[in-house]
Amino acid sequence: MSSCLYEGKAKRIYSTDDPDRFRIAYKDEATAFDGEKKAQIEGKGKLNNEISCLIFARLKEAGVTSHWVKRLSETEQLVERVEIIPLEVVVRNIAAGSLVRHLGFEKGRVLNSPIFEWYYKDDDLGDPLINEDHIRELGVASKQQCEQMRTQAIQVNQVLKEIFLSMGITLVDFKLEFGLNSEGKIVLADEISPDTCRLWDKETNEPFDKDLFRFQLGDLQTGYEEIYYRLQGGKQ
Ligand code: C5P
Repeated sequence: MSSCLYEGKAKRIYSTDDPDRFRIAYKDEATAFDGEKKAQIEGKGKLNNEISCLIFARLKEAGVTSHWVKRLSETEQLVERVEIIPLEVVVRNIAAGSLVRHLGFEKGRVLNSPIFEWYYKDDDLGDPLINEDHIRELGVASKQQCEQMRTQAIQVNQVLKEIFLSMGITLVDFKLEFGLNSEGKIVLADEISPDTCRLWDKETNEPFDKDLFRFQLGDLQTGYEEIYYRLQGGKQ
């Protein structure tokens, strides 16, 4: 027996026979700007699932655990059941996106050290940028849990930067989500894909990520296929 527990913009979460496992099915839908821009892109679900599986597997090899258990099919993966903490953790290595818009940084400026940001996951509030004082007052995570998420995000950044660099890709920035498992332990969750990372060709700075769709910079599928191809050891 399996029932859909949650449907998000890009994924559906299903229960499984094992109470400690969920099945995630990736959809072909692309959305941007809080769902204002939408499109069905055939093959996007497969690409994001395959890419996310390969990344979580590589992180695991490097000692970074996550909710990911295994790939189930082209569009589905099995994960540990966690309760998502309503925070988005963004790590930036290079200025782009909202950092450029909000603080006037030059796009492409290499940051002296990574910038770490918290966002409160709340659709009605538009996922605002917050700090650890706000988190404490909101009661969504303790100081110790914030420290654990921060430490893991820094570790993920190190490992991902190296993985992408070996593929000729610059990891500009990315978003992570964490959850609490049945033992109350903080676990890296959600997905890591070109929907949640900015990935630029190291030589040309050509984007291979969701900015292609957000700002009509090119074909999303072609960009994601390039990431998938290089992750599998394809030539750059
Ligand atoms: O838009 P912004 O520059 O703040 O995004 C930073 C990073 O976080 C980008 O890689 C973007 O794809 C990711 N992000 C995300 N989901 C959001 C907001 C940002 O995956 N809701």
